[in-house]
Amino acid sequence: MFTEKNEHGHHDCICALDAIRDRCSIRTYLEKAIPEDVILTLLKAAMAAPSSRNKQPWHFYVVRDSEILKKMGEQLPYARMTAQAPLAIVVCGDNTKGNPREEQKLNWAIDCSAATQNLLLAAHSKGLGAVWTAAFPYTERMDVVSKLLNLPENIIPLNVIPMGYPAEKPIPKNKWDPDKVTWM
Ligand SMILES: Cc1cc2nc3c(=O)[nH]c(=O)nc-3n(C[C@H](O)[C@H](O)[C@H](O)COP(=O)(O)O)c2cc1C
Repeated sequence: MFTEKNEHGHHDCICALDAIRDRCSIRTYLEKAIPEDVILTLLKAAMAAPSSRNKQPWHFYVVRDSEILKKMGEQLPYARMTAQAPLAIVVCGDNTKGNPREEQKLNWAIDCSAATQNLLLAAHSKGLGAVWTAAFPYTERMDVVSKLLNLPENIIPLNVIPMGYPAEKPIPKNKWDPDKVTWM
């Protein structure tokens, strides 16, 4: 893998294909803060995602407050690792920026999922570990996140992405399955 040491002493992964191949969900983190410029890089990567009719219907909550992180971890059974993370980014849809037609009403979730994948790949490229934990479509989890972050009515949480410098190094799963491809 072609990597380059960045100004924080971590290895940046330069090639997109390397990041895609090597990324995996990381659920344990070192007690080390993530520099703000790194967080900005992740947010820029997220906002570079494609979106339906270029509506960009996303909003990102950058949670560094340890009390909120702890409460999210305690109240979200599938996101317990958030309590130990130095940072979580909550990817939300802004339904005032969506497409009004009924058949397009799920586009915010599709668009925000594209942004989330960019965010995960950027995090991996910056030497961070992260995991997508679902809020949407589980009403109970969405309510927990909305209450803890005090989200306005139009902001819908898609997921919570706890992240930090990895305290584990799992081997990425090999998911290649030629049976899932039809060539014509
Ligand atoms: C839509 C979605 C929801 C997920 N929700 C959770 C979750 O609530 N908690 C969790 O620990 N992991 C969650 N994951 C992570 C998956 O478990 C993980 O991506 C999958 O096992 C594949 O592993 P990998 O990411 O290491 O390749 C979610 C992933 C996606 C895409």
